[in-house]
Order: sequence, then structure tokens, then C-alpha cells
Amino acid sequence: MAQRNTILVAGSANLDFVVRAQHIPAPGETVLGNGFVTFPGGKGANQAVACARAGGAQTRMLLALGSDAFAEPLEKSLLDAGVDARIVRIVTEATGVAFICLSKDGENAITVAPGANACLRADHLPELADVSHLLLQLETPLEAVAAWAHSANAAGVCVVLNAAPARTLSPELLADVDVLIVNEGELATITGQSGRVVDAVAELGNTNVVVTLGARGSCAYVDGEWLLQPAYEIEVLDTTGAGDTFCGTFVAARARSSGFAEALRRASAASALACGRLGAQSSVPSAGEVDEMLRNGRESSSPEELRRYCGLA
Ligand code: RIB
Repeated sequence: MAQRNTILVAGSANLDFVVRAQHIPAPGETVLGNGFVTFPGGKGANQAVACARAGGAQTRMLLALGSDAFAEPLEKSLLDAGVDARIVRIVTEATGVAFICLSKDGENAITVAPGANACLRADHLPELADVSHLLLQLETPLEAVAAWAHSANAAGVCVVLNAAPARTLSPELLADVDVLIVNEGELATITGQSGRVVDAVAELGNTNVVVTLGARGSCAYVDGEWLLQPAYEIEVLDTTGAGDTFCGTFVAARARSSGFAEALRRASAASALACGRLGAQSSVPSAGEVDEMLRNGRESSSPEELRRYCGLA
């Protein structure tokens, strides 16, 4: 039997078109930007790069690209990071793109045109024999995501779903997920509860869930116990891809047999570092940089503050 030492990420890849502006335009408003740049992005590819940079396990990715010029920088970024890319080439669709407006305080608004990403199907899933963890997001068709999760669960693979962008999920899909990673908005969409984190998580029953809380940090409800991880301090330049960095780093740590608390700490440090740099994949730190942040970085709040915020105290 093959050794299970590989993380498989199945998901999207987009070329990000980024314009920086004073603020994100309101509906009907036009703002003048200052600078335009493209970066390799897409939640799936960002998470694959984060897994690979975190080290410790082989990273493979299932993705779909068009046969156009936008595909090239996406393939190169995955290759440079050491990701084994399994590319489905869709000649009738354009490579996925994302239009990102980045405000001066690092917040963003993103519109995605999925293109080739929307053509991924259940039967594109590669062999799972050497796969320990399957990491999924929701920028590819929901039917495919559900089928991949089901196959992986049946094959004894640990299924991690980052339910982004926010969509409602069927109980069948949730039943196939070992760890759900969401932000507060996604948690509210899935559970219908927009109040305290503790109440929304209770709606998910026994599901292991990690909730990212932006600049506050993150928390997790695992095997009936709460874990609280404050964020690390950083001067924020661009939050794009910070959540993806969190997910990839978290799964890579779990694949190296780190406990949940240690995986949360590494993910928290990595995502802070990503917020201090421009772009999505370009902002993912190396394992060495994460080590350094863990040694010398400062947490921005205390577990007690997080406990109160989540409604646990
Ligand atoms: O999570 C950030 C990503 O969302 C961007 O890279 C963009 O491509 C969209 O998928």
C-alpha cells in the first residue's frame, strides 16, 4: 500500500488583476486608482502554494486552465513553489481571472470570472492512494466539490473544506468533511446564525471547525474543545490571499502530525506575514519566515479577549 504523504488541493486558479485605490468604490461610484499589476491567484492555487512553502509533505493540485496567455504565470507560480500540478486544459474557456480593488488600508473587494475553473468535474479527481489530506474551497462547481469530498472520505483521506466564497452547504457534504475552515461571514451563511461564534458553531454539531476572525486571530472547536489563537501583529499592506495562506499552512502542519493548536499558531503567523506583502501567491511566506515570526512576533490580543469575543466567557 502506498505511503500517504501527499496533500491534494483541488480547486481554482485565477490571474488577479489588482488596482490600488484610496477606497473600494461604493455601488455606482468610480474611483481613480494608482497602479495596476497582475498576480497569480485563485483560492485553490494560493492554498497549494501555501502548503508547498510550508514544507513537510508533497503538494499536488488539480486545476483547470484555458489555453491562453493568462495560464502561463499560473503554471509557473505553481511549478516554482514545487507543486505537482495536474492541469485539465479547457480549450473552449478562458483561464479564470479575478478583479481586485485594494484600498489603502489593505482591504479588498474581489470579483471572479471562473472561466475554466467552472469546467472541473467529479471524474477529474486524481488517484488518492498516496494522499493524506484533500483541501477544497468553493470556487469550483459545488457538485464536483461534494463528489471529491465523498470519494476522499470513503478512501480514508482527511477532508478539509475552506467554505469560501460563502455558499450554503448540504448536510451530505458537511458529513464528508473532517475539518471546516470558515470566516465569520461564511459561518453565518452555512449556519443561518450571524450572532456569537459559539452559537453559530453549535449549529454544526460535532463538526471540527476553524473560524478565522481577521485581525483578531482565529478559534477552533475540535473534538468538543475550544482553542483560541490571537493574530500576530503586522503592518497591513494587502489582505488578499491571507485566508488562503492560513488554510494551506494549517493543512501542511496537520499533515506533518502537528496538533491543532500548533497548526493554528503556524497558520496565524503565516497569514499575518502574508498581510504585510502585496499579492496572493507572492505574499506566502516560507517555513523559515514563519519560524522567525513565531520566535519574535507579538500576538495582537489575548486568548481571554478572544474568549469574550466568541461568546465563550
Ligand atoms: O482568496 C483570494 C483569492 O480570491 C484571489 O487570489 C482571487 O483570485 C480570488 O480567488
